[in-house]
Amino acid sequence: MAAELSPIDKAKFAAAKSAVSYIEDGMRVGMGTGSTAAWMVRLLGERIREEGLKITGVPTSSRTADLARQVGINVIGLDEAKWLDLTIDGADEFDDELNLIKGGGGALLQEKIVATASDQMIVIADAAKSVKALGAFPLPVEVVPFGWQTTRALIEEMLVSLDVLGRNTTLRLNGSQPYVTDEGNYIVDLHLNRIGSPRQLGLVLNQIPGVVENGLFIDICDIVIIGGGDGKIEIRDINAGKVTHDQIDFLEDENIFKDLD
Ligand code: A5P
Repeated sequence: MAAELSPIDKAKFAAAKSAVSYIEDGMRVGMGTGSTAAWMVRLLGERIREEGLKITGVPTSSRTADLARQVGINVIGLDEAKWLDLTIDGADEFDDELNLIKGGGGALLQEKIVATASDQMIVIADAAKSVKALGAFPLPVEVVPFGWQTTRALIEEMLVSLDVLGRNTTLRLNGSQPYVTDEGNYIVDLHLNRIGSPRQLGLVLNQIPGVVENGLFIDICDIVIIGGGDGKIEIRDINAGKVTHDQIDFLEDENIFKDLD
């Protein structure tokens, strides 16, 4: 089965496998959303089954909650957990300071709340997510449905005075209807191409009435683990100021690949 995975899936798997090794018995773990985070959830389920770990998991979306229950993780809400030891999530982009764009999967609000309520956040990704400047990936902004067109107009007006290269915005759709988040909100994607000052943009966006949250994660991520299709991984730790390398052996994980048949 491992041989049938695409190089990009192997890269995501390798990053997830490395991240799961940070989880210790008794931890409360935030579980992200997306295809990379889904590997992490499956691998955590495998560790719980094989090692009998007592882990409580706080999911960042209904999709992740469903998957976590399927693989045997004890799922609780953030209010029950109160504070988390570690959150592991994917990202759409990360820069050299480990600032992120998230929300491509529409779960940015819960993801940001959960990551912020954690002692440590580890992002797992393939190398394509690494950028010098954030912004090639459209920045998701979650807005309340009431007056969303006015909110979008205010966002566009605000962008005129900010250091960005593009100013188009689009309402995210699900078919012909607006995409609706787990909290019942809409998402406006900002096509900025390059964000000169992510910190300033994030602060200004959240001042606009109608904006619930934006997908810029500034000073939240501690470690990024970048997986390669050959099992090589690079670990960037912003607090320790160091980069280390390791190798994941796909053969050890035949069981989890069989689970996917
Ligand atoms: C979900 O809302 C996002 O923040 C995801 O974490 C992000 O889109 C990465 O997803 P993939 O791992 O599927 O690329």
